Amino acid sequence: MTFFPPTALTAAQPAVGQRLANESGAVGLCHRSDRMTPRPTPTHAVTGRFADVGVWGSPFDLFATATLSAWASGACGRARLGLFWAYYVCRFRNTPPRLQKGRSMNILGFSRRLPSLAFVGLALLGATIALAEPAATQLYLVGVGPGDADLATLRAIRVMKQADLIFASDGIREKFAEHLQGKEVLVGYWRLFPFYGKDPASLEGDERQEAERIDAKRKEFIARVRKAVDEKKTVAILDHGDPLIYGPWAWCLEEFEDLKPVVVPGVSSFNAANAALRRGVTTSDHTKAVILSSTDWPGMTDTIEKLSVHRSTMVLFTMRAEFQDFIKKLRINYPPETPVAVVKHAGYADKEGVIRGTLGTITDQVSQGSLPFEYLIYVGDFLKHRHKAGK
Ligand SMILES: C[S@@+](CC[C@H](N)C(=O)[O-])C[C@H]1O[C@@H](n2cnc3c(N)ncnc32)[C@H](O)[C@@H]1O
Repeated sequence: MTFFPPTALTAAQPAVGQRLANESGAVGLCHRSDRMTPRPTPTHAVTGRFADVGVWGSPFDLFATATLSAWASGACGRARLGLFWAYYVCRFRNTPPRLQKGRSMNILGFSRRLPSLAFVGLALLGATIALAEPAATQLYLVGVGPGDADLATLRAIRVMKQADLIFASDGIREKFAEHLQGKEVLVGYWRLFPFYGKDPASLEGDERQEAERIDAKRKEFIARVRKAVDEKKTVAILDHGDPLIYGPWAWCLEEFEDLKPVVVPGVSSFNAANAALRRGVTTSDHTKAVILSSTDWPGMTDTIEKLSVHRSTMVLFTMRAEFQDFIKKLRINYPPETPVAVVKHAGYADKEGVIRGTLGTITDQVSQGSLPFEYLIYVGDFLKHRHKAGK
């Protein structure tokens, strides 16, 4: 994507222009016309994927070349093109047009310049718009995977390394210390999603107090992100698992919509737990669907009871809710002999664990106190499915 101003190559070097076009892998757009040029000025330019080699003359030539080149070169190309046209018209202005019989030089000069001036105006406008376009992405929401650090993707690591400012939990900071060395890592901002989009003044009592506290912290966080982005820093928010599966940072995508944030998908604890179970979650004798759900928060209409009527596989993200309560709700529609598995610390080589039972037995096998924050409940016939009948 190189632009050569007209002075860079002269009329004596058309072959050079063509070679550059070829070397740049350009789609050749060659035009030669001197219909409108008072004194033909050979120009050679290679812009983006398009090469223009020859004398640019008629308004149509200018327009076609400008449009195609700018289109091919993106925002930077449009900006360069704006500068080029400014340069071109300056040269054009200094070239005295040949006088034709019976016409004053002024009128002739002006009428000849008018189309080019119009194009220059348009090109400069395009360049201004191009420069006003937001720069490359500066805000990332990154899923770093569950469990051990080697479950993070290469993309997550790359973004981590290139970021200037990072928001993370203590656990994530420790886990990726090697990649975060020397970076500004802020750990004080976590769980800022509750009450997002709600005016704390519309709430009462303890709830209002809590909403005000979180609102103040959230505003602080938002201001820090925006300041960093204004300073042209790359900001990365790191989240466990996949950030869009019960992710506490998903609200940021709405808050910073204008910054066009990029999401780096992560391996979810759901994926790691499937691996721990060594079963195809979508394969069983009579069902093929998997429902990811959680506890029945107030206001949610898709309750566990309603979701379980088809006895599809269900995976519950527990988030500190009562284990017994989940099982009680599951027992409403699944028969007591339905297999259940509890997967703890999925993705950690040294502490991953699976407890298997049935809906009828599991509460005797598992006590709430023995469960960490990181555990998932699986229920469904896929847990006992065998491809070979009778085994
Ligand atoms: C706020 S959600 C975050 C889920 C995350 N976005 C993901 O994709 O794994 C937290 C819940 O995910 C589950 N979880 C997270 N990490 C886990 C792990 N390593 N093993 C088992 N469950 C996990 C637990 O149910 C936990 O309460």
